[in-house]
Amino acid sequence: MGTFLSLSDLAVNGKKVLMRVDFNVPLTDEGSIADDTRIRASLPSIRYLLDNGASVILMSHLGRPRGKRVDKLSLAPCARHLELLLQRPVTFASNCVGDAVEVLAAQLPSQGLLLLENVRFHGAEEHPEQDPQFACKLARLGDCYVNDAFATAHRAHASTALIAQYFPGNAAAGLLMEKEIHFLGTLLHAPSRPFCALIGGAKISTKIGVLNTLLDKVDKLLIGGGPWHIP
Ligand code: 3PG
Repeated sequence: MGTFLSLSDLAVNGKKVLMRVDFNVPLTDEGSIADDTRIRASLPSIRYLLDNGASVILMSHLGRPRGKRVDKLSLAPCARHLELLLQRPVTFASNCVGDAVEVLAAQLPSQGLLLLENVRFHGAEEHPEQDPQFACKLARLGDCYVNDAFATAHRAHASTALIAQYFPGNAAAGLLMEKEIHFLGTLLHAPSRPFCALIGGAKISTKIGVLNTLLDKVDKLLIGGGPWHIP
């Protein structure tokens, strides 16, 4: 499918696979996970990699800490939640780059799981020009790269875009990414009629472009979900 590699194109047995996921989950005021849909959505790729003999290093953002450490936006609760979902240990690294993380990654056993701390605690994640080495430091952790962060695919950030250049022939789309691209392609290029689109979620500013594109293609457009205010 498409012009990208799939998980099945990668030889992952015995390899360390660095996978970008989107664990940008809603949190309660007390800091617990209010909805784990995005974590669950990454499970098929994680299970595929583990079942095929890889060790998996996960990286994600959470919220918009703007390049600073913000404790309430730590991914530590996601590591604990992932342990519950998978019923296997998940090591949590308190940073996403640096010597300590490199040691953890190097020592990760076969079929082990490591979740890195929020990549957006570093300004270079969203603004790679601030530190062109940041993507390279992340890349050092794995033998292969997988992007399964569909919900972040519209961002050209260090861990979603730049990093792929360090894995020529060894970078692939995850199962979630592939599934979403497949459905989007079908919807946008050969929809069956009548074609009704339902758009939900928050952050309307990031969805205006999608709405404009869909308006020309759909018979009906329904919007709902988070705080939508159309003047
Ligand atoms: C989202 O929730 O829309 C994605 O995780 C991207 O988050 P962002 O809008 O903060 O880049």
